[in-house]
Amino acid sequence: MPKTVLVTGGAGFIGSHTCVELLQHGYDVVVVDDHSNSSPRALERIAKVAGTPLAAVYGIDVRDRRALSSVFAAHRFDAVIHFAAKKAVGESVEIPLEYYDINVGGTTALLAAMHEHGVHRLVFSSSCSIYGNATEVPLTEQSPAGPTNPYARTKLLCEEILDDACRRLPELSVLALRYFNPVGAHPSGLLGEDPHGVPNNVMPYVAQVAAGRLPRLSVFGNDYPTPDGTGIRDYIHVVDVAEGHRTALEHLGDENGMRVFNLGTGVGSSVLDLVAAFSEASGRQIPYEITGRRPGDVAELVADPSAVARAWNWATTRDLATMCRDAWRFQELNPTGYGA
Ligand code: UD1
Repeated sequence: MPKTVLVTGGAGFIGSHTCVELLQHGYDVVVVDDHSNSSPRALERIAKVAGTPLAAVYGIDVRDRRALSSVFAAHRFDAVIHFAAKKAVGESVEIPLEYYDINVGGTTALLAAMHEHGVHRLVFSSSCSIYGNATEVPLTEQSPAGPTNPYARTKLLCEEILDDACRRLPELSVLALRYFNPVGAHPSGLLGEDPHGVPNNVMPYVAQVAAGRLPRLSVFGNDYPTPDGTGIRDYIHVVDVAEGHRTALEHLGDENGMRVFNLGTGVGSSVLDLVAAFSEASGRQIPYEITGRRPGDVAELVADPSAVARAWNWATTRDLATMCRDAWRFQELNPTGYGA
C-alpha cells in the first residue's frame, strides 16, 4: 500500500517541489492550500512534472477546523508536511497579528486535527531566521535562537508548541526543518517561484532584472563585515529542500518526540556572488546599485549541515550555478510566472 501524505501549502514554492518529489517516490499526496499566495496552476504542473496526479486537492484554510477535520476523515494519512504559512519578513512587521494568527493558529489547528484523527507524524517547515543575528557561523541546531522579526518569532513559537505537544503526547514524532534560503526551480522549467507583485527576495528579483522586467537590483548595503561587504546567505536549491523533506518522512519513524535539523548547504554566498553567478547562468548583464541596508537584515547566515548528514546520511547536491540556471530557465519559460 502506498503511503498517503497530507501536504499543507502544497501549491506554494517549496510545497509544489516537495509534492513532485513524493509522487515520484510512490507516495499518495493530498494537498490543502487556500491559494492566498499560490496559483492553482502549480497543481496542474505538479501532475505534469511527476507524471502522476495528486490524490486529492482541497482549497481550504488550515485554520478552518471543521473543513480540515473532514479532510482527515476522508483519508488515512501516514504523515503530514506543514508548509502553509506566511513568510515575508517585512510584511510580518506591518501585520504581526495576522502572522501569529495564520502561522501559529494554523499549526495548532493542524495539531488538533492530527490528534483527533490519530495521525502522529509531522514534518514542520521552520526557518533559519529563528537564529536572528548570528554570533557565530556556521550555525548549528544548538546555536541560540534570537528572532528579529514577527515572522521568525512565529516559526520559533511553532517549534516550542510542537515541543510541548511532543512532551505531552509520546506517540508524536515531529521533525522541524530549519531551511536557509531556498531558491532555484525544478529543472523541467515547469515549477518555480512565482511571487505576487515585486519580489522581496533576492533571487526572483535578480531573475526579473535579467529578463528586463525590472531595471536594476538594489543591493542592500555593502558595509557588512563580510569580504565584499554584502550580505552572505546559504542558498539551497529548492529540489534539495524537497529531497530533504522526502528523506525526513523516511526518518520520522526513527524515534518519537521533537527533533530539529538545519537544511542548508554549508556554503555562504554574498549578494555580489549571486549576481555574478546569475549573470553567468543567464548570459545577461545584471545592473545593480548599492543602496542602504534593509532594516532587520543580518550580515551572515550559513548552516552547519552536519547533523542531518550524520542522522540521515543525506546532503544537498546542487550548487549556486545550478540554482541560477534553473531559476533562469523558469523565468524564461514563464515570463509572468504561472499567470502566463
Ligand atoms: C528572509 C528570511 C528567511 C525567509 C526568507 C523568505 C531572515 C533573516 N531571513 O531571508 O527566513 O525564509 O526571507 O521570505 O529573516 N537583498 C538585496 N536586494 C534585494 C533583496 C535582497 O540586496 O532586492 C539581499 C539581502 O539584504 C540579503 C540577501 O539579499 O543579504 C538575501 O535576501 P532575501 O532573499 O530577501 O532573503 P533573507 O532576508 O535572507
